[in-house]
Amino acid sequence: MVKPFSQACVNNQIAICQILERVFTDKKLVLEVGSGTGQHGVWFAKNLPHLIWQMSDREQNHAGINQWINDDPAPNLIAPIRLDVVSDPWPTARYDAMYSANTAHIMPWVAVASMFAGVGQRLLGGGIFCLYGPFKYLGVLDAQSNIDFDYRLQQQSAHQGIREFHDINQLAMNAGLNLREDNAMPANNRLIVWQKR
Ligand SMILES: C[S@@+](CC[C@H](N)C(=O)[O-])C[C@H]1O[C@@H](n2cnc3c(N)ncnc32)[C@H](O)[C@@H]1O
Repeated sequence: MVKPFSQACVNNQIAICQILERVFTDKKLVLEVGSGTGQHGVWFAKNLPHLIWQMSDREQNHAGINQWINDDPAPNLIAPIRLDVVSDPWPTARYDAMYSANTAHIMPWVAVASMFAGVGQRLLGGGIFCLYGPFKYLGVLDAQSNIDFDYRLQQQSAHQGIREFHDINQLAMNAGLNLREDNAMPANNRLIVWQKR
């Protein structure tokens, strides 16, 4: 099997890591939802050694994630667990931090809602959830690159598309999360930070 590779992860991991270092400074156990290739988990575990990083994804991505872990193991990096946020039970552990990147515009809306419900249930009080990706604000995408990306997503699948920030934040509030930060990131992305009440 060819090891999966995402150039986007290479491009964004340093900028994301700088924010995670700050907002996860007093955190320990992190659950990543939708780890994809596994590159982010490998990078963040290596660069944020005070964290224990638990990757997760649907089973079809585990072989690739395990290749990344095997090629670059770290004592604080745990083998991926199977987590389809709609159809799998969430792990019983309670996490003090959670992270997900580029998932909200790929999952159907019902899955985005499941993700927030699961985050709200498994995050400890005071815990932090970070969601990275592009978002619309009051229906507006201000970068042409995101307008083009949104169009491509919707052509690809009717259930995909860049989400409205206010809808996402409503899911977060319903799950017991308060908005703490909305960080502008390179390439017209955002890193949104919520805290569990
Ligand atoms: C565009 S990839 C992003 C991967 C990685 N986080 C990144 O930033 O490169 C979208 C990810 O969402 C995951 N995903 C889609 N639907 C999901 C679901 N229902 N439950 C869990 N993960 C899901 C996919 O398996 C994939 O890993």
